[in-house]
Amino acid sequence: MIEVKDLRKSFGKFVAVDGLSFSVKPGEIFGLLGPNGAGKTTTLRMISTILKPDAGSITVNGYDALREPERVRAQLGVVAESNGLYDRLTALENIRFFARLYGLSEEKISERVRELAPRLGLDAFMHKRAGQFSRGMKQKVSIAIALIHDPPVLIFDEPTVGLDVMTARQVRQFIKECRRPDKCVIFSTHIMSEVERLCDRIAIIHKGRLAAVGTLSELRQRSGQEDLEEIFVELVEGEDRAL
Ligand SMILES: Nc1ncnc2c1ncn2[C@@H]1O[C@H](COP(=O)(O)OP(=O)(O)OP(=O)(O)O)[C@@H](O)[C@H]1O
Ligand SMILES: [Mg+2]
Repeated sequence: MIEVKDLRKSFGKFVAVDGLSFSVKPGEIFGLLGPNGAGKTTTLRMISTILKPDAGSITVNGYDALREPERVRAQLGVVAESNGLYDRLTALENIRFFARLYGLSEEKISERVRELAPRLGLDAFMHKRAGQFSRGMKQKVSIAIALIHDPPVLIFDEPTVGLDVMTARQVRQFIKECRRPDKCVIFSTHIMSEVERLCDRIAIIHKGRLAAVGTLSELRQRSGQEDLEEIFVELVEGEDRAL
């Protein structure tokens, strides 16, 4: 559902993404794991058509991100840290406002809210103003907004960053439940346990390059290490030695 081929992006002289290729299949939850500055957000932003690659290609659900960005955007639900809410509107008003921008009918919006709110634990604060929300509450409302149009391709950039244990669990559980045969999820994180719990396949990104990709058991087999953190450290240090 997502095909990334030889993707490159530089900011000035700095190469943030350096020939990255991977694909995400229908039904998969795919994790991008990498240290700070590895190029995860830059990659997700290029897939989201927010940022233009210098070279390489991206297709999303059969549409080319460079030639058909509007089509690609229609396939996507993107949850990034920068999702802004209107403080003076309630959770529900925020959701309705953004849903109307997607062109959803009032009926469809109500239907989706009924589906999403209980799964995200939003019911209790649906009629409270977003200005008084904690980070976790804001994140959950942002997720509802990003997925209100029921897109087939879900993108989460560090979905649990800054969330407490229970809220992070809830968000992880939510992402897990997003797994459908005709959908896919791609998300970035540096939390090993998150990747272990959620992902069907993992791409380890380091310095804008793919250090490894596969299921957890494939990565274990290849490295001879059991623990994902050990696999990760070995790959990252190995890459550093090779450079
Ligand atoms: N708009 C920009 N202008 C200049 N440099 C940028 C820009 N966006 C990203 N970078 C640089 O590109 C590199 C990759 O950044 P990116 O945000 O993709 O990393 P990341 O893997 O998401 O890291 P983190 O885990 O910290 O979120 C970083 O060194 C960053 O400083
Ligand atoms: Mg990032």
